[in-house]
Amino acid sequence: MIKKVIEEGATTRREFISTMSALGVSGLSPNSLLAQTQMPQRPIPGKGEMLPVVGLGSSKVVSQISSNGIDPLAAVLRALRDSGGRVVDTWPRNPENDAGLGQVLSAPDLRDSLFVTTKIDRVGKEAGIEQFRQTQRLYRRETIDLVQIFSLIDLDTQWQNLKEWKAEGHARYIGVTVSEYNLYEQLEEFLGRETPDFVQMNYSITERRAEERLLPLAEDMGLAVLLNRPFMNGAYFRRLEGRTLPEWAAEFDCESWAQFSLKYILSHPTITCVLTETSNPQHMEENARAPLGRMPDATARARMRSFIDQRSL
Ligand SMILES: NC(=O)c1ccc[n+]([C@@H]2O[C@H](COP(=O)([O-])OP(=O)(O)OC[C@H]3O[C@@H](n4cnc5c(N)ncnc54)[C@H](OP(=O)(O)O)[C@@H]3O)[C@@H](O)[C@H]2O)c1
Repeated sequence: MIKKVIEEGATTRREFISTMSALGVSGLSPNSLLAQTQMPQRPIPGKGEMLPVVGLGSSKVVSQISSNGIDPLAAVLRALRDSGGRVVDTWPRNPENDAGLGQVLSAPDLRDSLFVTTKIDRVGKEAGIEQFRQTQRLYRRETIDLVQIFSLIDLDTQWQNLKEWKAEGHARYIGVTVSEYNLYEQLEEFLGRETPDFVQMNYSITERRAEERLLPLAEDMGLAVLLNRPFMNGAYFRRLEGRTLPEWAAEFDCESWAQFSLKYILSHPTITCVLTETSNPQHMEENARAPLGRMPDATARARMRSFIDQRSL
């Protein structure tokens, strides 16, 4: 039945999630009473492929390879994999670190269990091609699951590159990223003329502007959505320091401030996967538990917003 729902692929994400919930398998429906033990997955719209809803933003732990070695990255990726996750978002920058990342991605137990993304952040067609070839070589992968243009840099030139790599089978999916409000207008304009497979944007309980136009647009266009900055790159935790979680957070099985933001994000039906950046395997496990158990419904989401807004968090 689940396979049939996915294959028919005619549903919106809202319909898909409510159908899964009616079948008793999602656990993502608001106020579900089902005890969930496996990380839920959501479909890449129209592609017949599912992705687990929590992933790793690897920038921080990869940037520490030259000083700390590859073991911390391997530990955090195994924590993700053992928690049922697959998505690892990357951004190639330093060849020494990226070679270490490639070594970990090629470990026999990880090689086929991850969905690996990369980004292009160069100006000029040849520079983009050069960066992608180096990524393929250092990551030891001919085909990258998702290639994205970082923060819309040299958008039109790199978009042509990405389309060629997809046609040649070097990229399974292609997309674009933003992580700041000041790129939203340019992203909307791009989505008016092109249809990427994925769009990545910032969205959280404290940065909610994507709810207004971008997320409805992504839903209408049937795009997969990756989320960045779930914790404002750590600023969220600094703002909440010394504050205790409200008792009512237990009504949607929320154990921590990290899960408070993640449950808010993942109770939006348009999100495919949220990327949480961490170099700590315990944090990875805690983040991976966020979609388990009950999720906030519309009333609880309004209460969460008001809690954050009243305290100017
Ligand atoms: N334009 C773009 O394409 C773009 C821009 C920004 C980000 N991104 C993507 O988004 C990913 C996420 O980055 P972000 O900036 O959005 O960071 P973030 O996930 O909002 O925040 C990361 C910070 O939160 C801490 N943290 C994570 N889980 C925690 C937990 N359970 N408890 C306490 N602290 C926790 C981490 O520290 P610990 O290491 O101590 O856990 C780290 O300092 C990036 O890695 C990247 O993949 C893309």
